[in-house]
Amino acid sequence: VLVCVCAEENAQDERDVPPGVNHADHLENDSTGAQILSVVIRGVADRKKFEEIRKEIYLDVLTTSKWAVDILVQKSSLDYTKHLLKSADLEFKVLIEDIQKQMEAENPPESKESLSRSSLRGHGLTFDRYHSVDTMYQYMEYLNRTYSDFVKLEDIGTTAEGRTLRVLYISSGQPNRKAIWIDGGIHAREWVASAAVLWVLSELTEKRERLPEEMRELDFVVMPMVNPDGYEYTRARRSTRLWRKNRAPVSSACAGVDVNRNFEHGWGGHGTSGEACRDTYRGPRPASERETQAIVNYAAKNIPKIQGFLTFHCYGQYILYPWGYDKILPEDHADLQRVGEIAAQRIKEVGDVNYTVGSSANLLYPAAGGSDDWAKSKGVKYAYTVELRGPGYPGGLNSFFLPPEQIIPSGRDAFEIVRTVAEAIVLQP
Ligand code: ARG
Ligand code: ZN
Repeated sequence: VLVCVCAEENAQDERDVPPGVNHADHLENDSTGAQILSVVIRGVADRKKFEEIRKEIYLDVLTTSKWAVDILVQKSSLDYTKHLLKSADLEFKVLIEDIQKQMEAENPPESKESLSRSSLRGHGLTFDRYHSVDTMYQYMEYLNRTYSDFVKLEDIGTTAEGRTLRVLYISSGQPNRKAIWIDGGIHAREWVASAAVLWVLSELTEKRERLPEEMRELDFVVMPMVNPDGYEYTRARRSTRLWRKNRAPVSSACAGVDVNRNFEHGWGGHGTSGEACRDTYRGPRPASERETQAIVNYAAKNIPKIQGFLTFHCYGQYILYPWGYDKILPEDHADLQRVGEIAAQRIKEVGDVNYTVGSSANLLYPAAGGSDDWAKSKGVKYAYTVELRGPGYPGGLNSFFLPPEQIIPSGRDAFEIVRTVAEAIVLQP
């Protein structure tokens, strides 16, 4: 999920940023009383009014869709912002009442019992909380040791801060099988994306005998943590919980490139920024980032084997397919729509939540340089970006702060999508 509403990504002036906040950090050290508001956008008129207000006051847009724009408002400008929205007759609801409180509830400290259980198991990963990159990697090592007959751990790069980039290759045990790529965590603050991918990974390995037939026919490449530097930055302190990019030292003023604007296909187009301090900074050139290079090099080596490319984000509950860089559709869009709808239907049955299916430029906004577009441009048929829970407006709360009880349900959503794409690939003529 992202960011711009937005005729012109660069329209906002640097001076509009409230003092004390690096706007890509989004939060202050103490965010008591800061809120996330979801502003309803019924049509062009509402969008215009919103843009007018945006000229008046700095608005920190966290995400936008066809129907709503979610903004983060610091306590000091809350009254004024609400006043402006009301006077413009824009409807809004409060998604997060108090960000500070929300963050405190997000990840309770781990209990002694849980720690001792994990040392018995041989790894510390659980699905009742959000974990460090180290714990995720420890789990991947554990799987590699425990299921060495069909699992292979591969290091495919390192980050600017020296962390390893890792994938687990899960083999069907048959030669020349088609494969599905699955990743999460390209955006640092989207914690549940990695957690849900880890859930899928555990199903693909530890629960292998329970997998439906079509899933045992395929190989999988799983990269639960695309952006470990960014993720650890969001864990480090509350003021950086909403960081989105990686942590590459790209300019003296600001760090970080939006890895999902850094891929080659359509690079530099709509919904991207050339300004290093922006959340959607595309980087100095296509595939300038180590994370991008790691994915491109590894995945490219495995195309045409890879016929599904699933990249997990949050939030909004969308199943999105290319193109993302512009409002045009690939030739086989009807297949992508159909398979997406089957997945959405199954999620509805399993988890009783609604996912909306469509092309990302049409449903969200055009944004160029995404990994899904890159995969599609390389001939991967089923390329999807999935925005997991929580729901966008109407009905939705939570934003990026999804309570840990939602990790397993989100993992089940992700699993249904993987299963449906697997089926489509296996049944394909
Ligand atoms: N929320 C995601 C982002 O902004 C959506 C990406 C959809 N894909 C795309 N190529 N625009 O990065
Ligand atoms: Zn995202």
